[in-house]
Amino acid sequence: MDKLVVSQSPPLRGAVAVSGAKNAVLPILAATLLTDEGCVIEGAPDLKDVATMCRLMSDLGVTVSRREDGALVTRPEGGGSCDADYDIVRTMRASITVLGPLLAKRGRAVVSFPGGCNIGPRPIDLHIRGLRALGATIEVEEGYLVARAGKLTGTTLFLGGPFGSSVTGTANVLMAAVLSEGRTVIESAACEPEVVDLARFLVRMGARIRGVGSPRLEIEGVRKLHGATWRVIPDRIEAGTLLVAAAITGGDVTVTGASAGMLTGVLQTLREIGVTIEEGPTSIRASRSGPLRPAQFVTLPYPGFPTDLQAQFMALLCLSEGISVITEKIYPERFLHVAELLRLRAHILREGPSAIVVGVPWLSGAKVMASDLRASAALVLAGLVARGKTEVKRIYHLDRGYERLEEKLKALGAIIEREPDPEAP
Ligand code: EPZ
Repeated sequence: MDKLVVSQSPPLRGAVAVSGAKNAVLPILAATLLTDEGCVIEGAPDLKDVATMCRLMSDLGVTVSRREDGALVTRPEGGGSCDADYDIVRTMRASITVLGPLLAKRGRAVVSFPGGCNIGPRPIDLHIRGLRALGATIEVEEGYLVARAGKLTGTTLFLGGPFGSSVTGTANVLMAAVLSEGRTVIESAACEPEVVDLARFLVRMGARIRGVGSPRLEIEGVRKLHGATWRVIPDRIEAGTLLVAAAITGGDVTVTGASAGMLTGVLQTLREIGVTIEEGPTSIRASRSGPLRPAQFVTLPYPGFPTDLQAQFMALLCLSEGISVITEKIYPERFLHVAELLRLRAHILREGPSAIVVGVPWLSGAKVMASDLRASAALVLAGLVARGKTEVKRIYHLDRGYERLEEKLKALGAIIEREPDPEAP
């Protein structure tokens, strides 16, 4: 297993291109199960999670190959199993998004029941509720969700839960509804840009969906979908991470290919913290020369502040001149990075779903352990400014969702190396 060795780096400067969105491409790949024709997905990032999804697709009878220009080309082979194995679902929860398409297209899906994970409990009751409302029977047998449907029928259903809607839950129900008979109305649908991208791809495949981007989706079922070519949206979380890298080092970085419109709340928070932001039509520039100011934010469903940038902003606020309060309203237990940031000399107190970050003038490098994808990124960011060296271990988490992050940072001036970790189990 590899580790990243990050040394205190100069202010990052230059331009860096954002990759395609991980959380858009994964359900879009699942959606290709809905057609007997091939699809082309352009701008698909080269990530471990994408490779895992391609492996799962191949088990399910759809081969996926990567073209020279990076596009993924899907080819349904006919046949294939309807089972998503425990070993795949446990490494990548997004594999649950094959449930809706398998059920709608093949009338049967057997998907491992996903457990909790490092960011806390991850229930799937909303997925089940939505698919049952469309007429599926779903039972849990020996750790698997066994779903069957003769014919799915449109209906009006509500997808709100205690923490808002569900991103992958909306994706699953939407993908089942497009091939259901009649009209489906999904109330309290997730509005995340990745759900919008999926819906637009489905429309390109011939689905009839109204209200895309709103919490009320109206779907008129069709009998068949055809193949389509699609370019995935830029990864707003990667873009946000790179902007924080500029901010934390007091640098000046332009993230190209990024969409400011998907990051309104994040850019607002960066400005409050003392970062100068310039929004271009397809780029965002972040620079900072003054001190970091403290901030208060709450993670919320889109367009609120994304939970997937909470850890990175915590790293940034560790160095602000004052006290910040961060509240998690999506995953109240998504704070495993706190203990690791403390090892870097940060001063953070936990109080229920909130973290109180008392700014310190400097951080000190140390060995730290990545606990999940975004926590890993936060530790790398902290390592860029911590005095001495920071070793971020277990970076397989990072490789799941960031495309060549260390290379991108290095090109901006970061001192960062990937090395084999002899201490890893
Ligand atoms: C998606 O996960 C993302 N993953 C996550 O990104 C992201 O953190 C999350 O949405 C929230 O934005 C993908 O898109 C592949 P949810 P998802 O269902 O869909 C509760 C990353 O780092 N809930 O929208 O699994 C749930 O507990 C990852 O890239 C229910 O109560 O998240 C949470 O509090 C991590 N019942 C809230 O809803 C359900 O049936 C939102 O979860 C489902 C969810």
